[in-house]
Amino acid sequence: MDNFTFKSPTQFIFGRGTQTQVGKYAARCGAKKVMVLYGGGSAVRSGLIQTVAESLDAAGIDFIMAGGVQPNPVSSFVYDAIAAAREEKVDFMLAVGGGSVIDTAKAVAAGVVYDGDFLDFYRGKPVKEALPVGVVLTISAAGSEGSPNTVITDESTMIKKGASGDCLRPVFSILNPELTFTLPKYQIACGISDMMAHIFERYFTKTRDNAVTDRMCEGLLLAIRDSAMRAIIDSEDYEAQAALMWASTLAHNNICGVGREQDWGSHALAHQLSALFDAAHGAALAVVFPAWMKYCIDEDAELFARMAVNVWGVEPAEDKKAVALAGIECYIDFLRSIGMPTTLAQLDVEEKEIPRLVELLFAAGGAGRFKKLTPADAEAIYRLAL
Ligand code: NZQ
Ligand code: ZN
Repeated sequence: MDNFTFKSPTQFIFGRGTQTQVGKYAARCGAKKVMVLYGGGSAVRSGLIQTVAESLDAAGIDFIMAGGVQPNPVSSFVYDAIAAAREEKVDFMLAVGGGSVIDTAKAVAAGVVYDGDFLDFYRGKPVKEALPVGVVLTISAAGSEGSPNTVITDESTMIKKGASGDCLRPVFSILNPELTFTLPKYQIACGISDMMAHIFERYFTKTRDNAVTDRMCEGLLLAIRDSAMRAIIDSEDYEAQAALMWASTLAHNNICGVGREQDWGSHALAHQLSALFDAAHGAALAVVFPAWMKYCIDEDAELFARMAVNVWGVEPAEDKKAVALAGIECYIDFLRSIGMPTTLAQLDVEEKEIPRLVELLFAAGGAGRFKKLTPADAEAIYRLAL
């Protein structure tokens, strides 16, 4: 196990009806003027924005609304929101939505107090200071409700990249599984694919002797696997949605990643698909990750075989590579069963686009630690996903 520090200061408020308490928690954080960010309309249609407004009113907190964050969020929205937040003297960002809304709130939170271009943070500058961010989560997926990360597409280059800083971890996150009941099946499946991917990025490591996080990763993957189909069949299955919601948070607040080197190559490969072709993040990962696994299997066939046995129920055998490959096939079958694409063709991405994807990937800084990818590796992985 490697040395590590781990600080996860977010207060999680989990369960039915908890969104009505958002004003109370914002007040406890000293919020006086809140910018409420939300997406393309689902939170308005469900009545959630109205509930949030009433709760803030009841707590005596002034607020402005900023709707219209799009999935795979973009820099122009952030610039506009930073300008509005400065003009209105906003001192607290409240994200009501999923990863795209939360990441935009974090970008604005960092940008408002920064005397420069907020995109500097997405070009490698660590975020040291930001307005506090609170969250009311509506989709179990990205884990941004507990993470120090934000991912934005820079529209001047169309590169999608992350920025990070402990001050970006939300001060509170309200997690009510009932708020996910309105999700389309496709979005539930995208979320499942993403939370599993967050665990894979940590599980596939060259770091040895980290039994605690190995087993936590496997346990979370089993819980996700076992709840997935229930939530897809009946989006109002509270217990299944509750398992997915808590799993998505734990998959990415890094409790499963401490003390080990992490990979993140598949996320980098997937981000370029989202930036160029607007593929949903989870769908892009469903296409990329099985191909990455097949390509990287010889890095440590025993590790891939262990996941095959412990998560996908493959019979152990002498031939580790055969066991590992059988596990990858189980994962692909699982993705298909929940309605995820598993090929680039299903995302309408043609072979001729691969050189541009590779070029963008390396313009964004390259990818991978478990296997550090060369441009030829990245091209081969995209080709395996055709
Ligand atoms: O915009 P609205 O109308 O709200 O619709 C959204 C959107 O179309 C819809 N939705 C959300 N909650 C709903 C709902 N529809 C009905 N009922 C509800 N309760 O779902 C769609 C997708 O929303 P989005 O926020 O984009 O989903 P997700 O949470 O998967 O976030 C994806 C973004 O997060 C980034 C991804 O790259 C992507 O941009 N990530 C952020 C991470 C982080 N900050 O730590 C880590 C992840 O790896 C990921 O990269
Ligand atoms: Zn992700």
